Amino acid sequence: MAQLGNVLRPSREAVEPNPAAQKLGRAQGDVAAANQQYPYHSGALRGTTLPASKSMPFQITIKPSEHSFACDDGETVLAAAMRADLMIPYGCRNGACGTCKGKILDGAVDYGAHQPGTLTAAEKAQGLALFCVAKPKTPLSIEVREVRRAGDIQIRKLPCRVEKIDKVAPDVAIVSLKLPANERLQYLAGQYIDLLLKDGRRRSFSLATPPEDDALLELHVRHVPGGLFSGQLFNEFKGREILRFEGPLGTFYLREESDKPIIFVAGGTGFAPIKAVIEHALHHEVERPMVLYWGVRSLRDLYLPDLPGSWQEQQQSWPISPISRAIRSTPAAARR
Ligand SMILES: Cc1cc2nc3c(=O)[nH]c(=O)nc-3n(C[C@H](O)[C@H](O)[C@H](O)COP(=O)(O)OP(=O)(O)OC[C@H]3O[C@@H](n4cnc5c(N)ncnc54)[C@H](O)[C@@H]3O)c2cc1C
Ligand code: FES
Repeated sequence: MAQLGNVLRPSREAVEPNPAAQKLGRAQGDVAAANQQYPYHSGALRGTTLPASKSMPFQITIKPSEHSFACDDGETVLAAAMRADLMIPYGCRNGACGTCKGKILDGAVDYGAHQPGTLTAAEKAQGLALFCVAKPKTPLSIEVREVRRAGDIQIRKLPCRVEKIDKVAPDVAIVSLKLPANERLQYLAGQYIDLLLKDGRRRSFSLATPPEDDALLELHVRHVPGGLFSGQLFNEFKGREILRFEGPLGTFYLREESDKPIIFVAGGTGFAPIKAVIEHALHHEVERPMVLYWGVRSLRDLYLPDLPGSWQEQQQSWPISPISRAIRSTPAAARR
């Protein structure tokens, strides 16, 4: 294995941002424009958590913490936990990734719509459920790891403007989003946002910048052939488009109380949240050994080839080892 900056120098095609996109300070206009473009979201501008429910028929108790919260009829366990300011792990929130899997110790649930491979019949028989889609049918006692209290990190819906689009590899663009001038997104390095598309669909993208560097929110987007959003971005966006998003979401972030070594493994644009975490750790001079493996289909897909090396130069006493190997493509490695 060799240090990334020394061995890999793929070419990069940089696309100049639309000059008009560089004019800043039109936040109020952005908000109004976003409301016009997405009227069904306009009520959410001040930021909301999940709405309070009218009836609370099911009490849910988490073991071993004994934290207890109420869940409305038809509400998912995760949604109710978040409303109670408790954070259990989650990723996709649609039954696809398995991050929210936990055990039902007592009670019964409607398992909800999920990928069959993410929660198998055998796992259900063992009492497991995906709490992002499971809805209680009775009071529940559940066993699940609690990540942290959500505290004052509010999940919000906000407008933003596409400030620039840098095409840094044949199928990867770095998209910088500008929030209204009076807005900042509070988030933990590693979390993601959901872009809210016009027809009610969502697309998730990791925030590639740490919260300390939040003047622009950076996303790394891979062009999925035929993809609804990424297709639009690559073929139609010119900059200055107004989008709306919801976030921050997800439980991938640095557990700062730990001093254990970290091995990061990224495939393609899966590098984005890891970049945010490493830059956050650099900012706070975290002294934990860190190793990065960044798998790509070919060297030209290594879209920020010099960055890991620059991290090491910046903080030479910090024992990060930015190491990468170009891993041959497999369908799984190519997905992100
Ligand atoms: C938590 C989370 C974080 C994410 N972060 C990022 C990120 O930082 N950068 C990023 O580029 N993507 C990220 N994604 C994936 C992203 O949300 C979209 O799924 C992706 O951009 C495709 O959206 P689309 O609208 O262009 O394609 P769609 O219209 O949704 O899909 C078009 C076709 O491509 C297939 N497809 C969809 N996504 C992929 C894929 N990744 N690989 C291969 N085939 C696919 C679909 O099954 C469909 O057949 C993340 C997803 C999640 C759940
Ligand atoms: S399956 Fe992904 S969060 Fe529940």
